[in-house]
Amino acid sequence: MRTLVKNIKELVQVEYQTRLRVCGKEMSQMQTIKEAYLIVEDGKISDFGPMSELKEQTFDKEYDATGRMVFPTFCDSHTHLVYANSRELEFVDKIRGLSYEEIAKRGGGILNSAKATAAASEDELYDMAWQRLEDVMHLGTGAIEVKSGYGLTTESELKLLRVIRRLKENSPLTIKSNFLGAHGIPMEYRGHQEDYVDLVINEMIPLVAAEGLADFIDVFCDQGFFTVKDTERILEAGIKNGMRPKIHANEMAVSGGVQVGVKYGAISVDHLEQMGDAEIECLKDTETMPTILPGCAFFLNLPLSPARKMIDAGLPVAMASDYNPGTSPSNNMQLILSMACIRYRLTPEEAFNATTINTAYAMGVSDILGSIAVGKTANFYITKPISSYEYMPYAYGENKVESVFIKGRRI
Ligand code: NIG
Ligand code: FE
Repeated sequence: MRTLVKNIKELVQVEYQTRLRVCGKEMSQMQTIKEAYLIVEDGKISDFGPMSELKEQTFDKEYDATGRMVFPTFCDSHTHLVYANSRELEFVDKIRGLSYEEIAKRGGGILNSAKATAAASEDELYDMAWQRLEDVMHLGTGAIEVKSGYGLTTESELKLLRVIRRLKENSPLTIKSNFLGAHGIPMEYRGHQEDYVDLVINEMIPLVAAEGLADFIDVFCDQGFFTVKDTERILEAGIKNGMRPKIHANEMAVSGGVQVGVKYGAISVDHLEQMGDAEIECLKDTETMPTILPGCAFFLNLPLSPARKMIDAGLPVAMASDYNPGTSPSNNMQLILSMACIRYRLTPEEAFNATTINTAYAMGVSDILGSIAVGKTANFYITKPISSYEYMPYAYGENKVESVFIKGRRI
């Protein structure tokens, strides 16, 4: 199957030499080709270049993108997409003055989601998550990481991870699963949370590993949640069982989460609203991708992660949606792209790199996704007619995506 997309006004984020991630100053560079073509063969990008160099040949399908631009799809490396209920009443409580931590303390927040998850069947959770995947795909997301973490019992955590496995089997999207049993502390373990950590380590992790249900292991390492000690124990067990760490760190406080993530070779440390110089220093020359979640900081009115400072220090930065019912109920990576520029002062080029190649790295797929390069999976979108690529972050809140191609097929 050979497909041609021709007369592309601008083909954005092409790479002739692929990189697994882009760091520091490199983030401000992004190559494009004006008046371009793109060829897909059997689901992979096989060629691209200026229209003037397109050779006479036959195709099974042709698309004319006159006036429109082509971008690689977004990679969303941090989501909690499988959940049973929305939480807009807590949203109102927050407007009235309660903090996220206060709501969590009285048994709301993550525990509210856990109660609803326990009551839902695997099929119900699957149907809801499937619809959400369909929606994100049409907004331009082509790869997504999905966490468990609204179970908090062995049975419910396994149920969530089995839903993610079914999504992986049935969706054309590239999906990675993340076991986040240590997301919240169930009421009955308050005051002796080490016993819950024991349950995660001794019962949940072996069962998750036996069914091969998780690519990653995650811990909410933060004030009022899991300690550095808890985190170390859980990561060690996860690593022994073949799961790579990804951490929720430094959302509420400078928690030590960044350091513990780096120590255990985490592929990413995520949130980072509270960052000191020591945290930035500790990320230098490591394999760990600092990942900012602009939707969460926006929704909870949290301080902004110092993205500019991190990039200026030579670090890579990724930005993901954190799509979840409690702290970031938006599925839209186009909005994250806009927030990267508007709120964090990234240039459009940096913002595209932060939401594609660097998020691809943060979920371990940047060898096959995250840019337009020969041999990569043909996940891309064609925009509506737009004036420039800067228009993408500029026109926030508007859907600029007209059609999406996953593995070379228009969906
Ligand atoms: O990434 N911070 C921890 N976990 C999620 C929120 C979970 C929730 O409130 O439902 C997050 O923001
Ligand atoms: Fe999260």
